[in-house]
Amino acid sequence: MSDLTILALSGSLRKASLNTRLLTAAQNVAPPELSFDRFQDLAAIPPFNEDEEHPAPAAVTDLRQRIHAADGVLIATPEYNGSLPGVLKNALDWLSRPSDFGDVLNRKPVAIIGASTSPIGTIRAQLNLRVVLHKMNAAVLGQPEFLLSLAHQHLTDSDALPEQATAILSNVLNGLSDLIRHQHAVAALIAEAN
Ligand SMILES: Cc1cc2nc3c(=O)[nH]c(=O)nc-3n(C[C@H](O)[C@H](O)[C@H](O)COP(=O)(O)O)c2cc1C
Repeated sequence: MSDLTILALSGSLRKASLNTRLLTAAQNVAPPELSFDRFQDLAAIPPFNEDEEHPAPAAVTDLRQRIHAADGVLIATPEYNGSLPGVLKNALDWLSRPSDFGDVLNRKPVAIIGASTSPIGTIRAQLNLRVVLHKMNAAVLGQPEFLLSLAHQHLTDSDALPEQATAILSNVLNGLSDLIRHQHAVAALIAEAN
């Protein structure tokens, strides 16, 4: 039974993206209380320009609204030149700006995963993404960390991950579920105290 919604975002625009496939693998091992809302319109988010913030582009408003409505966020990031892709950073820059939905990532539970074709996974991209999300005051899951190296060898047509990777990915999803419940409980206590 699903009672928590996760906005799932891939940082790749590629049709055959390994990170988009990784989100499918994550959805397959998620605990039953999590339902996934897959955002697939990253390519429609224009380059951020302070001169053109208002009115916000439709794709930005859609992403803001869906993150606002979600209980948590799962980001699968590729690594480009030792960092997160520009399109993902660009979307986060949009999200960092005030809107009708408030600061949608403020205190929002977020988990990061990543797949790359290299042997060292997405360590640097994930670290850089953490720095950006920290600045935006998101509640980023610290442990476990999940990165899939040589992902093209694993995310094939069957999308079957090695057993150990599946177990860690499942732990990430359970960790995100716990973090969401913790945040909800704290919010309820604060509301009660007021
Ligand atoms: C411009 C560019 C830069 C890249 N830089 C890195 C890198 O720094 N580290 C890495 O592990 N892989 C790097 N790669 C390889 C990516 O891991 C690989 O293309 C991966 O499939 C991208 O994710 P996607 O399949 O979700 O699109 C790079 C690829 C591109 C196109």
